[in-house]
Amino acid sequence: MNIQWYPGHMTKAKRAMKEDMKLIDLVIELVDARAPLASRNPDIDELGKGKARLILLNKSDLAGERENAFWKEWFRNKGFFVVEVNSKSGSGINKINGVVQEACREKLERDRRRGILNRPVRAMVVGIPNVGKSTFINSFAKKACTRTGNKPGVTKGNQWIRLNKTLELLDTPGILWPRFEDQQVGLMLAMLGTINDEILNRDELAMEMLKLLQRRYPGMLCERYGIEDAEEKEPYAMLLQIARIRACLMKGGEPDISKAAGILIDDFRSGKLGRLTLEIPEDKAG
Ligand code: G4P
Repeated sequence: MNIQWYPGHMTKAKRAMKEDMKLIDLVIELVDARAPLASRNPDIDELGKGKARLILLNKSDLAGERENAFWKEWFRNKGFFVVEVNSKSGSGINKINGVVQEACREKLERDRRRGILNRPVRAMVVGIPNVGKSTFINSFAKKACTRTGNKPGVTKGNQWIRLNKTLELLDTPGILWPRFEDQQVGLMLAMLGTINDEILNRDELAMEMLKLLQRRYPGMLCERYGIEDAEEKEPYAMLLQIARIRACLMKGGEPDISKAAGILIDDFRSGKLGRLTLEIPEDKAG
């Protein structure tokens, strides 16, 4: 999805989200497990005040397992409910129903005291572009419905997907705006492919990926591209080696750096290099 954010767009999105918030009990916020802070917009905390909160560490299949555990703990300590999921394969999705009930226990008990029985929890899925919202909604709707024998029914003016007796989902996700103003955040989002490639120089991006990899995952560079002692190499030299090993050559036999950069970027984003996490909680760093 190509979205260019500008102030007018952001104000409009915020207003729409504020309206939707009035309709729901629970915010299901998707973040990219590879960069859980860079891929979230903290404005949602203000917008979702008073609502039950569930964070889904999505694309957890692409992120480091140990780091997923760190982030789960980090978000729990901040008072969020958290589930690690892979919306593409559906893994982790079956845990969500139980956690939703737990997250909304207060509301459900309040309802019960007032004699309101069996009113489903209403939830909205939110997240920045590309974090997996549509994939998640499809996967969740399918699972919840096959398990309960329900059909994903549409009720109340096409607005709600009834997942089962206890949960309804607003049928369109809330799109949060990425935080481009912070350079580090912008860089991580570019690495994940959230930002348009056209607004970035791909060779530079590949070099930044190499700097990160040599610092955090030098073994991956050796395994995939045969780059030994990656920690001591210049990013440009490593890109040259990728060009050589992948036979990326221009007409006169010169190495084709841009092609090598493209290969690295694709390998990085698709998980072919291995599972990697771009940021870890401060207390786990070092
Ligand atoms: P959005 O609605 O938030 O904008 O995101 P969307 O569902 O369109 O997902 C963006 C991309 O992320 C899609 O890939 C989707 O398949 C992928 N994706 C979503 N969740 C997961 C996950 O948990 N794990 C992995 N590995 N990938 C996930 P795409 O390349 O745009 O499409 P496709 O080639 O997969 O069809």
